[in-house]
Amino acid sequence: MVGFSDKGAVVYADDSVLSASQALSERLAWPLVALSELPAELLQGCFLCYRDGCLKLLDKQTLKKGGLIVEIDPRPGEQHSYPAPKKDLLAQAIGKKTKTVLDATTGWAQDSLALFRMGYEVQCIERSPVMAELIQDGFSRLAQKEWVLNRQLQPPRLLVGNAIELLAGLSEAPECIYLDPMFPPKRKQTAATRKSMAILRDILGDDLDRADLFAAAWQAAAKRVVVKSPDYAEPLGGKPSESYQGKLLRYDVYLK
Ligand SMILES: C[S@@+](CC[C@H](N)C(=O)[O-])C[C@H]1O[C@@H](n2cnc3c(N)ncnc32)[C@H](O)[C@@H]1O
Repeated sequence: MVGFSDKGAVVYADDSVLSASQALSERLAWPLVALSELPAELLQGCFLCYRDGCLKLLDKQTLKKGGLIVEIDPRPGEQHSYPAPKKDLLAQAIGKKTKTVLDATTGWAQDSLALFRMGYEVQCIERSPVMAELIQDGFSRLAQKEWVLNRQLQPPRLLVGNAIELLAGLSEAPECIYLDPMFPPKRKQTAATRKSMAILRDILGDDLDRADLFAAAWQAAAKRVVVKSPDYAEPLGGKPSESYQGKLLRYDVYLK
């Protein structure tokens, strides 16, 4: 067995997922461990595991049951028709007439997927290789959905790497570049903080290079850059052209 890295491990429960787990462990350079043989000293870390037909991010509480996945179904309250109506603050900030959007900070892909369901042409960038695996798994499941197959839709394309570098090499400028980097929390994180976001912060930390990311997005976008921020944060790119204020967050829009 390979030595354990301090980052995490790929665990598998049975042989039906062994070869996919092996390939994943090689891609991430994470050790591969059978669930039944997981040593106690590893329990503080995080794990990736193929279970129930999807790739899950686990910790010690969710090792046997549960876990986090890229959710591909509409959010509560969202209409199930395609394209879903462009009526929320996100759509207003992106622009109802905008066609192409690049999400440079994909994370759990919830914003990307909401935009995809609204009919935008979405491209994604994510620099964390672990998140990229989870996103790619979500997009593969999306490709198998009946409503996607019936309409011959292609799930968003995912580029893996630092957007600050990748944005400079795009062959075509997207009309809108969307940014939702991690800001340091102001309030103590409460139970209301979504677990998926709290875990993301634990694994990845804050995105300290977000000012450089904004500069790269401003260069690369054809028409606008949209930044999602917590309500207490200073606007990332100086005074925005427009702002859409939600309950605890804000979308700042910078028009070119
Ligand atoms: C707050 S999360 C985004 C959440 C996302 N909007 C959603 O709906 O799930 C920020 C993500 O952006 C990624 N990220 C931050 N800066 C990046 C950069 N320069 N290049 C690529 N990915 C970046 C982080 O790794 C993290 O996964």
